Amino acid sequence: MERRPLIAGNWKMNLSLDDSVNLVKEIGAGMSGVKGVEVLVAPPFTALSTIRQAIGDSGIFLAGQNMNSEISGAYTGEVSGRMLQGAGCTHVILGHSERRALFNETSEVIDLKVKTAVLLGLIPIICIGETLEEREAGRTFDVIKEQLNLSLHNFKADELMLPSNILAYEPVWAIGTGKTATPDQAQEVHLFIRKWIEGTFDTKTANQVRILYGGSVKPENVADLMSQADIDGALVGGASLKADLFVKLIRFKES
Ligand code: PGA
Repeated sequence: MERRPLIAGNWKMNLSLDDSVNLVKEIGAGMSGVKGVEVLVAPPFTALSTIRQAIGDSGIFLAGQNMNSEISGAYTGEVSGRMLQGAGCTHVILGHSERRALFNETSEVIDLKVKTAVLLGLIPIICIGETLEEREAGRTFDVIKEQLNLSLHNFKADELMLPSNILAYEPVWAIGTGKTATPDQAQEVHLFIRKWIEGTFDTKTANQVRILYGGSVKPENVADLMSQADIDGALVGGASLKADLFVKLIRFKES
């Protein structure tokens, strides 16, 4: 079963509204003629509706960078999944390592968000990954397993994970550092994740779920990463802010 590659740009807390609109338009123009690759952008909340308009019919998917696990209520400063949908999002990034490290999001909190996202019909992109300290201590697989067990606890309880749900392996030491995991290092963890899905759910789901790699993906390393059997796409920070770089990533088959 073929998994369609997904190149996703996480803009984080960057770009003015005007720059965001220009960027998405340039991406739309740059990807024309590309077949068999899905493209997604995750702008800041304040830009979502405007970016949805600017996307037009170019086929770019829109994602929130986070959401609250509640659907509405007295949660000052928070944004719900339903609001993301109202702004035109089909996807939401959950459990990014910056959320985990800087905003104290635990896997338990992420699990609740994942549950609500799926309930609403949003496709979650669930991020997991080990720190440098954990890798150097030889704990990578234990950490990944624990994050999977806790962040997908509700799926486990229901014995169901939708094949459309997406995972992203992002080693924390590779995010924004310029240090990329080697294709072999990434593939090893991706395979581990797929085996975990197979063991927890079933082979069919494991073969369908896409697992993205994130952490200093750039035009120079994208083709090697994407050539790995279990790497189905990229979640990109820095290189998603420049149209020429991001378009090169989308056109990875040509490099
Ligand atoms: P980076 O960020 O590409 O700048 O390393 C990746 C991410 O945080 O998703």
